[in-house]
Amino acid sequence: MDTKEFFYLYFKVRDESKETILKEGNLTEEEYAKFEQELAEEVKLIKSERSNVPEIGVDFARFTRYLYEPAPDSTKGVYRPDAVYPINGEIIPLPAVGVIERPEISLYQSIEQRRSLRKYSEEYLTQGELSFMLWATQWVRDFRSNEKVEVAFRNVPSAGARHPFETYLLINRVKGFKQGIYYYHPIKHGLILFKEGEEWAETVCKATFDQEMVAKSAVTFIWAAIPIRTVWRYSQRGYRYLYIDAGHVGQNLHLAAEAINAGACMIGAYYDEGMDEILELDGKDAFVIYMASMGKKESTAK
Ligand SMILES: Cc1cc2nc3c(=O)[nH]c(=O)nc-3n(C[C@H](O)[C@H](O)[C@H](O)COP(=O)(O)O)c2cc1C
Repeated sequence: MDTKEFFYLYFKVRDESKETILKEGNLTEEEYAKFEQELAEEVKLIKSERSNVPEIGVDFARFTRYLYEPAPDSTKGVYRPDAVYPINGEIIPLPAVGVIERPEISLYQSIEQRRSLRKYSEEYLTQGELSFMLWATQWVRDFRSNEKVEVAFRNVPSAGARHPFETYLLINRVKGFKQGIYYYHPIKHGLILFKEGEEWAETVCKATFDQEMVAKSAVTFIWAAIPIRTVWRYSQRGYRYLYIDAGHVGQNLHLAAEAINAGACMIGAYYDEGMDEILELDGKDAFVIYMASMGKKESTAK
């Protein structure tokens, strides 16, 4: 779903006037007429569903209590989900975790100086630095697999070690990598090219409501949630854990960025339909849950 389509729907389901939709959605008369036809059913559906929304947060907190918990699939003999769902493609190895340079910065300093950084220098990240960032956030340090359960351990905590995320990177400036979107293989510690081209920076930026830091970042991290990994074990309560788990990943990214003289900014403002479409996720079994842009600090540019 592109931005125009999104904003048409956004204002239409709020019963805004045609004039407002044309203006706010930056639409031509022709585009408006086309959406009126093509999206009529979707508008109807969203409008009817919007009546369920007011209590969703309250209901979510309430019905994910243990007293309401349905038996999880793991207790019903449902086959276990895999711990990693790699996309197909050739793996471009990153500098191995054991040999990457370990930046020297105290934990105190890293926590103390961390701020959300939204402006970056033009400097490229080295592959070692990217390797370090991925090590800190989603690298798999231990992996166990059998018929009953498959489990990965990473450098962030995760409820039941379910680790329900896959990592995608929008790469704009990393030495030796073409611009585009990549999938990170957390066991093989390498990248798989998913969508090549510098235009992806603008497309992803648009889906974050034009947050410029995305287009200007060295790398923007995009984490996709795979709920079944956690829900298989914890049933509906697992949905709570997805969002808690994502926070840990974000904080490790922040602290690791400080260690390499870079900065990061977490991103929760994006339209789900656009981001999921870019990553070809269905929005239900897999969806974008969190993002973060990062780059070197401007003072190091000289
Ligand atoms: C869940 C979450 C979502 C966020 N989304 C955005 C965002 O979309 N755009 C943005 O500029 N900052 C975003 N931020 C960054 C916050 O605005 C920032 O952490 C806050 O203003 C405090 O500033 P500090 O991080 O420098 O301490 C987000 C932070 C979190 C934790």
